[in-house]
Amino acid sequence: MKVVITGGGGFLGNQLARQLTKHGQLTAPSGQIENIDEILLFDTHLSDVAKAGLEEHAEIRWVTGDISNRDQVFSLIDRDDISVFHLASMVSGECEERFDDALSINLDGQRHLLEACRSRQSTPRLVFTSSIAAFGGEVMPDTVSDDTKRTPLTTYGMTKVIGELLINDYTRKGFIDGRSARLPTIIIRPGKPNTAASSFASGVLREPLAGQTCELPVDRSQLMPVLGYRDVIDSFIALHEASPDLLGEDRAYGLPSIQLSVAEMIENLEEAAASRDITLGPIVDTPDPVIRHIVATWPTATDGERALKIGVPRPSTLMQIIDTYIDDFM
Ligand SMILES: NC(=O)c1ccc[n+]([C@@H]2O[C@H](COP(=O)([O-])OP(=O)(O)OC[C@H]3O[C@@H](n4cnc5c(N)ncnc54)[C@H](O)[C@@H]3O)[C@@H](O)[C@H]2O)c1
Repeated sequence: MKVVITGGGGFLGNQLARQLTKHGQLTAPSGQIENIDEILLFDTHLSDVAKAGLEEHAEIRWVTGDISNRDQVFSLIDRDDISVFHLASMVSGECEERFDDALSINLDGQRHLLEACRSRQSTPRLVFTSSIAAFGGEVMPDTVSDDTKRTPLTTYGMTKVIGELLINDYTRKGFIDGRSARLPTIIIRPGKPNTAASSFASGVLREPLAGQTCELPVDRSQLMPVLGYRDVIDSFIALHEASPDLLGEDRAYGLPSIQLSVAEMIENLEEAAASRDITLGPIVDTPDPVIRHIVATWPTATDGERALKIGVPRPSTLMQIIDTYIDDFM
């Protein structure tokens, strides 16, 4: 079978590709577990870092392009024995600044992908990455669950809610077998910061570990629901593998997370650094009203019980996440 990962050059898409090369198999549209003979990474940009170590795997292929290009998206979905992990997306900060691009990439791009799957003589499984930015505003409780009303207060969150609804309806119609993972903030993103408003949650760990200064845009008392990058990749695979019999009409699953304040994250970081003799770079409080405002509209905890029931793994602790990051990236 073939696996397409959109956003395969990004943080999570790239980690997913690496994990799938180890996994080697997934449940195909036939309903049987099949060997993966092709993993296609699709992205506007595939850096040397994204490719490093993956070139040696014969099943890996790369295609650069734009998900809002319908013909190109159809050319990716060229087999019936196919699964899709749809991660390509503009992130929260840029969606606020480039409304029209957010619609064409996050909405039109997803529609092209869904239509391409619908045109096959099979019912491909498709895992879509949504976000807790699907929630927001006055009606939002501190802890969100799959029962919480979705009231996004950002363009990014709006595109994710529409994405979840499209997945549900294409699944109801029998065009695809879709599943949406609603992600909390994922840590620790390696490399450079991105333009997501949540970027500081990785930066406050990554920059000091690298001996660099972290400019912290939010208050240290800010609470965050976070999840480690290995856990989220395992969650994508668990969601893909979950039997359709276990899944309800609402195919959107909020992933479990751990709730931490920024101050607690820093305490864990200091403990981890001390145990490994790492000298941390300084953390400088540098309030940014725009980021504070966006982050204040997000929930501070997630209830992932429904996802846990269908086999999504329990979250690692922050100390485990920091240890894994040091082993993987430092
Ligand atoms: N990382 C998180 O904390 C987090 C939290 C919630 C949701 N998500 C979602 O998970 C997914 C993956 O997140 P990530 O952290 O890996 O983000 P990322 O920005 O690292 O990866 C997204 C990738 O999509 C690609 N992309 C953007 N526009 C494209 C286009 N027009 N055509 C093709 N590719 C395009 C980008 O180049 C990028 O490589 C995204 O859908 C994101 O919204 C992530």
